Amino acid sequence: MSAESAPLTVPKFRALKRSGRKIVMVTAYDYPSAALADLVGVDGILVGDSLGMVVQGKATTLSVTLRQMVYHAEMVARATRHALVVVDLPFLSYQTGVRDALKNAGRILKETLAQAVKLEGGREQAELIAALTGAGIPVLAHLGLRPQAIRASGGYRVERDRDRLLADAEAVQQAGAFAVILECIPASVAEEITGRVDIPTIGIGAGPGCDGQILVFHDLLGYSTQPRRPKHAKQYADLGQIIQEALRRYIEEVQTGQFPGPEHSFS
Ligand code: KIV
Repeated sequence: MSAESAPLTVPKFRALKRSGRKIVMVTAYDYPSAALADLVGVDGILVGDSLGMVVQGKATTLSVTLRQMVYHAEMVARATRHALVVVDLPFLSYQTGVRDALKNAGRILKETLAQAVKLEGGREQAELIAALTGAGIPVLAHLGLRPQAIRASGGYRVERDRDRLLADAEAVQQAGAFAVILECIPASVAEEITGRVDIPTIGIGAGPGCDGQILVFHDLLGYSTQPRRPKHAKQYADLGQIIQEALRRYIEEVQTGQFPGPEHSFS
């Protein structure tokens, strides 16, 4: 196995901060998506609970279950040779206490080949992050916009409380998180946090000053029927359009008798 294709472990991922090279992450929810992302060299793949929205078509991530996360994570991790695979702990799989968090995060590591879990929250989750890392379960923290707290916050909006964000970033680092996602926070605050902590900061809607970036697979590739594209997401392809065109041609060719042709038939 070449050094390039060797699996990126949690310590190696953490050390990327010092290398000065930007870290690239993307979400994925199934085998082919993960295999493609891994093939082109992303550093990390997050099996995000965003699957509730982009795969299941729900309005929030709240209904996603641990069982569903394990189902998707197993496929993604099995498809991945190099990238670090991190799996979201879904809503109420860890907010109910350390014991539940250990049991549920442990289940993810036991039943999939994923290497780490992600959870939302700052200082209030420090004890839990310390317990998980103490048990050998690496944790990616998640600050800023927290989709699992949508009912409490009242909507998806930019989190602007600089002092709170800085204190939370320092708290999750202190508790043992190996990296932190910064979602929808002002670029200047993300840059300040990045300079302040030793762990990599991975931004989504947090500007260019982070150590790395993450995007949701479906947003990045336009893999949707929805015109909805969050302000922070750059769309690099229009898969929705490509898929519709291919399906229309298929319908037409079946209806006009062009498909199947002799090359697709057996004698
Ligand atoms: O669930 C998810 O995909 C995420 C990313 C947006 C960071 O949390």
